[in-house]
Amino acid sequence: MSAVDAPGAEGRALRGELDPARVAALDTGSEFEAVARLSEQLEAGYTRAVAALTGKRLVPSGRPDGVVVCGMGGSAIGGDVIGACISGMPVPYQVVRGYELPAWVSEATVVIAVSYSGNTEETLSCVARALPRGCRPVCVTSGGRLAALAARHDLPLVAVPGGLQPRASIGFLSTPIGAALEAADLLHGFDEQVAEAIEVIAELRGELAPEVADDDNEAKTIARRLLNCLPIVYGAGVTVPAARRWKSQLNENAETPAFFNELPELDHNELAGWATNPGVVGRAFLVLLDDPAGDERLRRRLAFTASIMQPRVAGLVRIAARGVLPLARVLSSAYVGDFTSLYLALLYGIDPAPVVAIEDLKARLAGEGGSAPF
Ligand code: F6R
Repeated sequence: MSAVDAPGAEGRALRGELDPARVAALDTGSEFEAVARLSEQLEAGYTRAVAALTGKRLVPSGRPDGVVVCGMGGSAIGGDVIGACISGMPVPYQVVRGYELPAWVSEATVVIAVSYSGNTEETLSCVARALPRGCRPVCVTSGGRLAALAARHDLPLVAVPGGLQPRASIGFLSTPIGAALEAADLLHGFDEQVAEAIEVIAELRGELAPEVADDDNEAKTIARRLLNCLPIVYGAGVTVPAARRWKSQLNENAETPAFFNELPELDHNELAGWATNPGVVGRAFLVLLDDPAGDERLRRRLAFTASIMQPRVAGLVRIAARGVLPLARVLSSAYVGDFTSLYLALLYGIDPAPVVAIEDLKARLAGEGGSAPF
């Protein structure tokens, strides 16, 4: 019995095939197709957003004093992605994952609320807090209560197509943030970033898709190596949002615990945790997101950190970002993880789309049964 045919430690049935037939059998929600269409999403998402936001006033008057992007999970990650693409922007930029807005938000702040379903309570709470402060939040959603709020208060709305998982809509959900920054005259040349990202992602898709044989497919190879390991993903500079994306895609698509961290901070604490306790660290598999166009100090740290940890962990892989401009570099780093998480789901025998635990929690919080233990 080979490693990939054996029952996993968790009792999951592990299967070896990662071909289109296996995808068709397990992927009932067409997650592979959504991920494969990221280039198209970027193009359509950006075009839609530019059409929806051009000429719209995003603050009541004068220059914006900052930008806040509100969202959770698959709707928030676009905020981090765009945050890596705006160096030189003249005002502060913050992604808020929670119920409350920062104290500094004023009527001059560009607030962008992103919720794929339109029904996420934390994001709706931020919009409810923003309105009395005089903000006019840009709403990015496929419908729900956020779309209704936008209609009621005549707020700028970027409507995205429904029927996908939020995390599979990153192209639709991230590009409107860049378009909003352009509409507010805070960012220039985002169209060039989008154009390069479309090309780079299309090229990567040709290397990572299910039709590509295992030995030539980096995502399939990594997925096999990740079996029954604990993925730990490290990023630095523009690859930090990509590390977060890897982690959450592994969590939601492959239903496995996974963690991420960033350099240089982890060299000042987490690194020490890898020195001992082989029983724990021996199950960890490191994914290092290197940016060849990034800061040499960070790249040096990544290489030395890897060399210290390599003897202690189950395995290690380095992914090199592609492209010249930040958006392509972030998304190319993340894209390998999108496919890897889907292949890992197949190896574990999981349909990647459903997120039962998350839906169950949302239902409980909405008062549909179950009780809290404290
Ligand atoms: C599900 C997913 C989740 C959601 C999150 C917020 O695919 O990615 O992380 O994005 O629960 O929900 P929305 O995006 O509808 O605001």
